[in-house]
Amino acid sequence: MSVPRFEPGQEFAVAMDQSDPLAHFRERFCMPKISGGEECIYLCGHSLGLQPKSARDFLEQELRDWADLGVEGHFHAKNPWMPYHRLLTEQTAALVGAQPAEVVVMNSLTVNLHLMMASFYRPTAARHKIVIERGAFPSDQYAVKSQIRFYGFDPETSLIELTPREDESCLQDEDILALIEREGDSIALIMMGGVNYSTGQVFDMAEITSAGHRKGCVVAFDLAHAAGNIPLQLHDWGPDFAVWCSYKYLNGGPGCVAGCFVHERHAQSSDLPRYAGWWGHEEKVRFQMEPEFRPMAGAEGWQLSNPPILALAPLRASMDIFAEAGMDRLRAKSVALTGYMEFLLRQGSSNKFSIVTPREENRRGAQLSLRLRHHGRAFCEKLAADGIIGDWREPDTFRVAAVPLYNSFEDVYRFVQRFASAIS
Ligand SMILES: Cc1ncc(COP(=O)(O)O)c(C=O)c1O
Repeated sequence: MSVPRFEPGQEFAVAMDQSDPLAHFRERFCMPKISGGEECIYLCGHSLGLQPKSARDFLEQELRDWADLGVEGHFHAKNPWMPYHRLLTEQTAALVGAQPAEVVVMNSLTVNLHLMMASFYRPTAARHKIVIERGAFPSDQYAVKSQIRFYGFDPETSLIELTPREDESCLQDEDILALIEREGDSIALIMMGGVNYSTGQVFDMAEITSAGHRKGCVVAFDLAHAAGNIPLQLHDWGPDFAVWCSYKYLNGGPGCVAGCFVHERHAQSSDLPRYAGWWGHEEKVRFQMEPEFRPMAGAEGWQLSNPPILALAPLRASMDIFAEAGMDRLRAKSVALTGYMEFLLRQGSSNKFSIVTPREENRRGAQLSLRLRHHGRAFCEKLAADGIIGDWREPDTFRVAAVPLYNSFEDVYRFVQRFASAIS
């Protein structure tokens, strides 16, 4: 969408919504309400995306087929369950810029991260370090530290945390690349968020991957805050693996099945060590119940269990909507919404908060992280009681995201009005 110069009055928001080609998608989602029945201003898609109204039909279809067919549903359901997860493959691949064989929807995020590290973190005495950004999501920190300890190393000496410069909140791209250049020979794995959960900073995944590979490191990303938020080109950027969850921008529902990418160059590496399960076994002979594991080629070879159909069904509803809206159009609207929110927030030039998310549009997605100077969690809870749903991350950050599928410019306008008046 084309974005004129932002203006402070509400008429601007109304006009933007009127000319927004994606505005009608809002009607396809269930918007939470506060007790009086008024719709919330929901700015929390970075935490839990909203329910597509069509999710119910997708789910009910599978419940009906289960009721009517029992075990026969594996082959005779309207959408047979045996290959059901593949109904998501093409759309998932398109969303993350991958070949279909490079992606699979399975497990949950932290589980996939461990499965991938079991294969791709192979520390040696000379090359044992893992690089992560300081302040990465705790589950990622726990996961990498536990992997380091699992191999008898010590996070004190084997974990490198990328740290912002003094008095800065975000990392400088050049500092990331310089560290890789400097320490690369001892780094086994670079495993960073594609978008940092706390600051909302987008990292230059293409550059980080090239720099890491030049030094012989394995490169991976946690895309929990990136998938469905920013355009991704995983195949071309070339990381070895990536993992993400589907309950944030992807609207798959609480705890929904996660995603996993393994680059094509590893597709045939049947000798890679891995934790194996029957669903990763060569499909044609899976039911011959052989004792020896033979992995399928590609990302599917890392599957362990038969997939949870009832959890995949709502994700299909959302992925259909993504396919219809198109990531390019969503990104264009997202840039406009986030720029508009920043513009309005800076109007007040309040000394009560600062925006820690980078200003450059290629260094952020939908999320803005506001560091509050004098307010804490209670402030965020009070806003929520008034129907303004963002979230609080300790110690001082209020996170909000205007999501292009279901947020409007008026949402942004009304949020900033209420936020500004509450904070002063
Ligand atoms: C960046 C990041 N990594 C990991 C996780 C953990 O995800 P899960 O509970 O699905 O394993 C989250 C959850 O919000 C996250 O934001």
